[in-house]
Amino acid sequence: MDDSTRTLIGTATDAARNAYIPYSHYPVGAALRAKDGTVYGGCNVENAAYPTTICAERVALVKAVSEGQRVFEAIAIVTPNGGAPCGTCRQMLYEFAPNLRVILAKPDGTVVYDGVLSDLLPRGFGPESLPDVIP
Ligand code: THU
Repeated sequence: MDDSTRTLIGTATDAARNAYIPYSHYPVGAALRAKDGTVYGGCNVENAAYPTTICAERVALVKAVSEGQRVFEAIAIVTPNGGAPCGTCRQMLYEFAPNLRVILAKPDGTVVYDGVLSDLLPRGFGPESLPDVIP
């Protein structure tokens, strides 16, 4: 494994330590690397109104986009069992980066998946899917 991948997984592992998970007790950490090399971490933040919970991946993404980033290279996601990102997170990431490299790992650094987002969201709906409605 190259150094940048190891670092990305390390950042996601660190982020998972901040997970606010009083309901599921399932910590998730994400680390999203923008094209300029900046890495944005995120953790899941749960809520007593359960559906308002936000996943780690979307926290990392909205942090990055709100800082002006639009182009992304890779995301590392660390969960206790190497779990895959939910459909909502796949969709939100697809908006910006259909070819995003997705690395799923466990806290001990074991990689369970290293692939491309478009393989996790086949025939995804993205910006190019919308017809031009404004002439
Ligand atoms: N979770 C994430 O953070 N990312 C995902 O893609 C899957 C699920 C969180 C949401 C919730 O806090 C916990 O994992 C259990 O569903």
